Amino acid sequence: MPRELYIVGNWKMYKTAREAADYIAQLEPRVRNCKGKIYLAVPFTSIASAARAAKGSNISIGAQNVHDAREGAFTGEISSLMLKEAGAEFVILGHSERRTLFGETDFTIREKVVRALQDDLQPILCVGETLEERSGAGAQEVLKRQIHACLAGIPTEDVERVVLAYEPIWAIGTGKTASPKMAQESHAYCRLVVAELLGKKIAEHMSILYGGSVKPENGGSLTAQKDIDGVLVGGASLDPEAFAEIAHNCESKQ
Ligand code: PGA
Repeated sequence: MPRELYIVGNWKMYKTAREAADYIAQLEPRVRNCKGKIYLAVPFTSIASAARAAKGSNISIGAQNVHDAREGAFTGEISSLMLKEAGAEFVILGHSERRTLFGETDFTIREKVVRALQDDLQPILCVGETLEERSGAGAQEVLKRQIHACLAGIPTEDVERVVLAYEPIWAIGTGKTASPKMAQESHAYCRLVVAELLGKKIAEHMSILYGGSVKPENGGSLTAQKDIDGVLVGGASLDPEAFAEIAHNCESKQ
């Protein structure tokens, strides 16, 4: 799959089913002319109503997590087939909140990537370093470890559908964004690691998104960078007007 511009909202644990439908009614006219991919990762219970509200538009709905088994005795979990039937087309995997608050490891995240690919849910795989890791062992070591652990051995025709999201953990929800230059360096490094692991062609085609305090004011300067193919937006995606503004600024790269 060639590289494309992705504008992805991650609502986290915000917005009920009704609120999701209202939001999409407000967002749709504002992003109708966008050429990039407009994705919204909504809470499980809002997927069906969001997908209904987005039907026929250029907005795609996805989830924020999935279990790695197709079905089974896993109280409180949700499967890829359930998500798909509800209307999800993609899933965010390995978000730092899942890793730190819910104990997800590279191993389980890889299993989820494989499951999502098998069941035709497009994975958006998140990687990123903490502030301590940045100053200690180094961000690059962490990124390399995460990318290797989550993507090694996945067949070419499947791994092509993976989107990578670089989210420095110190920038998530903190208002601190990596500067465009700093983010570009990390993105270029991620692409290099993917090239070493899976080949140059896959690396060149892989869309790599930046996440961490993206706002209307900084989106465009991030996507103006050579290796930044889009954004993953948390807080600012909760407001349809701000999210649409981010989409337009990212498209015009300003
Ligand atoms: P933020 O979150 O935009 O609120 O920093 C980003 C994310 O968690 O994906």
